[in-house]
Amino acid sequence: MKKKLLSVLLSTAMVASLLVGCGSNAASDDSAATDAAATDTANDSAATDTSASSGEGGFVGVAMPTKDLQRWNQDGSNMQAELEAAGYKVDIQYASNDTATQVSQIENMITEGVDVLVIASIDGSSLGTVMSQAKEAGIPVIAYDRLIMDSDAVSYYATFDNYMVGTKQGEYIRDNLDLDNAAGPFNIEIFTGDPGDNNANFFYGGAMDVLNKYIDEGKLVVKSGQKEFADVATANWSTETAQSRMENILASYYADGTKLDAVLCSNDSTALGVENALAANYTGDYPIITGQDCDIANVKNIVAGKQSMSIFKDTRTLASQVVKMVGQIIEGTEVEVNDTESYDNGTGVIPSFLCEPVFVDSSNYKELLVDSGYYTEADLQ
Ligand code: BGC
Repeated sequence: MKKKLLSVLLSTAMVASLLVGCGSNAASDDSAATDAAATDTANDSAATDTSASSGEGGFVGVAMPTKDLQRWNQDGSNMQAELEAAGYKVDIQYASNDTATQVSQIENMITEGVDVLVIASIDGSSLGTVMSQAKEAGIPVIAYDRLIMDSDAVSYYATFDNYMVGTKQGEYIRDNLDLDNAAGPFNIEIFTGDPGDNNANFFYGGAMDVLNKYIDEGKLVVKSGQKEFADVATANWSTETAQSRMENILASYYADGTKLDAVLCSNDSTALGVENALAANYTGDYPIITGQDCDIANVKNIVAGKQSMSIFKDTRTLASQVVKMVGQIIEGTEVEVNDTESYDNGTGVIPSFLCEPVFVDSSNYKELLVDSGYYTEADLQ
């Protein structure tokens, strides 16, 4: 089985097709209904959860970073449900954002003899050794959402277009402050994600490629002076860390009533920290605040006017696409990708499938989040 998979991979990598869009039937697939209430933070290191299905179709190991963030619970439960429905046995594990835990979970999956590994890494650069073990065992690896760096064992990458996430956030700020026409200057502060997460570079890079021009010409002013990636990164994407950095910035630069016009936040957990800090320490009008994931707490804040937008990455869509890829790998058919240029993990470009993100704000959240069945009205009360 393993040898067959390896040769299949080599040939499929060469003929990987270039397709546009993402899992065509995914968004409307009721079988992948989102577990909107899946915010349980306990049991991250739960014992192996293998499917009750016969597993005749194959055995898939799914390694997720943490249960602490809503999105990973949704990603995990959607993928598990879809894989089981397709007849695969599944071992899904969450690692409490601890790399050593994730490594040992993946080692166990290799020992158990999984046919394919799907991994959303915690630190994309810390899986080299266990990736080599997977390669030796002939197990193909799909990097899920986050690219695994510096390893030639990564067969495919499935994600939303991370650079586009950043540009959409930057464009939202540009358009809503009307930077091309308004006189300004406007004050902005910047928060991005964990430096060990390769995505953070793309989110930050995409947004700054839109905003740098206005910073350079003085129309956007970063009062704190904190604008380089290292200054604005948030370890573990932690809400508390973002909150305390925002509190310091407010105390040092805005306590005299200076208006804060915008805060670029790469995702919802950092946006929540910024919003908590503002709620306790800022009396002016709420600035434009960006986010990503459409977590329930943040969508509630969008409805309440405390967050302006969030990027919506429908976890049902990504899960469906990955389940499709797993099937194609196991069946030895052509694996669909639509990008063979953007994601070099240090060993070469990894054939990728990029889904397209969209933004949600108060004008379209009902249509995109409620009418699509992602959340119920009650979830957002
Ligand atoms: C994901 C985001 C998420 C962040 C924190 C990133 O890799 O792409 O959707 O908000 O990690 O978990």
